[in-house]
Formats: sequence, C-alpha cells, structure tokens
Amino acid sequence: MAEKIVLAYSGGLDTSVAVKWLQETRGFDVITLTVDLGGQLDLEAIRQRALAAGAIATRFEDQRRAFLERFCWRALRAGALYQDQYPLATALGRPLIAERLVGVAREEGATWVAHGSTGKGNDQVRFDVAVQALAPKLRVLAPLRDGMAMTREEEIAYARQHGIPVTVKPASPYSIDENLWGRSIEAGDLEDATHEAPEDAFAWTRPLTETPEPAETVEIAFETGTPVALDGKVLEAVALVEDLNRRGGLHGVGRIDMIEDRFVGIKSREVYEAPAAVILHLAHRALEELVLEGEGAGFKRQVAQEYARLVYQGKWFSAHRASLDAYVASTQVVVEGTVRIALHRGTARVAGRKSRYSLYRPQLATYSSGDEFDHAAARGFITLVGLPLRTQALVQGVDGRPPQAD
Ligand code: ARG
Repeated sequence: MAEKIVLAYSGGLDTSVAVKWLQETRGFDVITLTVDLGGQLDLEAIRQRALAAGAIATRFEDQRRAFLERFCWRALRAGALYQDQYPLATALGRPLIAERLVGVAREEGATWVAHGSTGKGNDQVRFDVAVQALAPKLRVLAPLRDGMAMTREEEIAYARQHGIPVTVKPASPYSIDENLWGRSIEAGDLEDATHEAPEDAFAWTRPLTETPEPAETVEIAFETGTPVALDGKVLEAVALVEDLNRRGGLHGVGRIDMIEDRFVGIKSREVYEAPAAVILHLAHRALEELVLEGEGAGFKRQVAQEYARLVYQGKWFSAHRASLDAYVASTQVVVEGTVRIALHRGTARVAGRKSRYSLYRPQLATYSSGDEFDHAAARGFITLVGLPLRTQALVQGVDGRPPQAD
C-alpha cells in the first residue's frame, strides 16, 4: 500500500504540480490540506484542482481566529517586530499550518508531510522545525527544494500534460504570501533595491495620491494587552483585524519596504502591507508607555527583539517561546485602556491614550501651577548620582586629562 503524505496546499501552480509529482515520482497517496489564515481562497476551485492533480482526499480548515488569538496576539503583546519593522505575518502563520499538517497526518495515518517552500527562504525552516518539534518521527518533504526543480514554464507544461486546470494569468512578477496579519511581497521588480516598489506590488493599501482628506480616527480598546474593541464596539479578533486592514489600507497605512536578514544568510528586499498589524503595534506600544514603569518597559523592549528573532527563525514550538510568553503575560496585566490613532496620508499616529492604570501624573509632570514634584529632592538626588564621576575626576582625571586639584 502506498504511503500517505499530507501536503500544505494553497491551490497555486507550485503546490498543484507538487501533488502530481509526489504521486508520480515518489509513489505517495497525497492528501491536501488548505488552511485558511485570511488569504482570499476560492475553496471549490482549490478542491477541484487538488482532485484533478490526483489528491486522494482534500481537507480545508478555517483557522483564522486561532491564528490571531494564539499567534498574532501573542506577538503583539510581546511587541515583536523583526528588525524593528516586520510584524511577522508569514512567520506567524507557518507554525499553525505545520501544527495542522501534523494533526491531519495523525488522523489520516500519514507518515510524511510536505510543503511548497523553496530552498532559499525562511519558510522551509519554519515548517520543518515546527514539524520536528511537534512530531519528531514524522518525515518532511519540500518538493520545490527536494527534487522537483521545475521552472515556471516547465510547471505549466507539466500541469497541462496531466490535466491540472491552472489558470495561467500573465505571470505575476511577485511571490506573495498573505494572511490576516499582513501581505508579504517578494521577487520580480522588487529585487532591484535601488528603486521604490512599483505600485502594482500593492493590493491592500492605497497610494498616497489616492488617500482621503481628512484624517480618520479609530479608538482601540485593549484588555491585558489584547485588542478587544474598535470605537467602543466589542469585536471578535477576525472582524477587528479585517476592519483595521480595510480602514488602514484606505489611508495608505502599513506599507513596509526593507532589506531583510534572512535566517539562511541572504539579504533580501522585502515589501509588506500590514495595516492592522502596524496600527495595533503602534497603539499597543502607546498604551504600554502609559502604564509600564520605565525600567520594566526597557527590559521588555529587549524581550521584544528576542521574541521577534525566535519567531522569525521558526522556533515557535520551543520552551524558550513559552517562557518569553509567560514573562510577557506578566507585564500585560495593566495594559488596559484605549488609544486613539489618526490615520492620515500613509501614516498612523497616536492621537490620545487613556488607562485606569496610567502612571502619567500631570501634577508631577506639569511646568504650570499645581506642581507636586519635590524640587529640593532633585538636588540631593543629583549630588549622589554624580558622586562616582566626581571621585573619578579628582583621583584619575577624565578623558585623558590629569586630575584637577580644584
Ligand atoms: N520574508 C518574509 C518572511 O520570511 C516573507 C516570506 C514570504 N513568502 C513568500 N512566499 N512570499 O517571513
């Protein structure tokens, strides 16, 4: 009896050809698994194509809510932005898809799982490492990396020859991955890093010239660091993120253009659209500025970098991530309140924040009347802060100059 393999299936050309290739050249019974994380999927067309390509069974799962609640919200609370910019949409989606590959493999008695990543990117690492972590004995195959090696033209010819219905649009010049947390765009004209990204790379965000006047303000409510409502209306995760993606996109908010350090060592020019993620990170951070004491907030920024690196490098299912989550959760107890964000001409800016846990005290900060800050205490405080440097200057001198007798 043929061995079963569960393939993460998007319905695109690469994975459609992979279904047939796995069957024909490797002798597998192929089960396709399509996981909806918020990409625009035509389910019936995807199912028909999988079957035409020779799949013995097709599976579909809507994991949008789990994706946001278990993955994106954690990254948001942690403040995880890779290289201080990329909100990690693709990187956060992979471990969930891997988890479901493992789940379906167990249900179907499959000994292998497969995915459509190439041998140059981060995604192969994320899939493979996540599967290893969840099911060390399950074997993983990535046809595009592990032997299939066809050009786009060869794939189209192969599909035609095997009766796989592929709608060959004029080749999109880009490689695109999208989910609710963002849209990742690579390759094609973007490989020339000396130029601005062409307008046709974008699908969610308007160009600045088409953004409306005036600004639009959105009020986001957080509880324990998690967004729960927009403009006073409680929303569940998917609706909340969809709404912010739409409104942010309308104002051209959420475009990111960066040179990214891939885990495999390559520098790559990457473009993203992530209106909701950008707005939520900004708002969450504004709220933390208000409620977290400064020293702890500084340490949390270091944790944010570590969290982003770990997610980017595919180590979601690690004890290290769980430990960082526990730390982050302990900081989020007071991250409750509302933040107003103005969306305007390609930017999102903080337009007000409020929390019952706010540490901001106008009576301490004010330069006007009603000042409660103890100015006399400042003098003594500074005398002691300066004590070690005064002593050093007297005994050793400073900056290459000898000690000063006076
Ligand atoms: N560079 C990003 C990352 O590593 C996005 C990868 C997107 N994948 C794609 N097929 N376009 O997370």
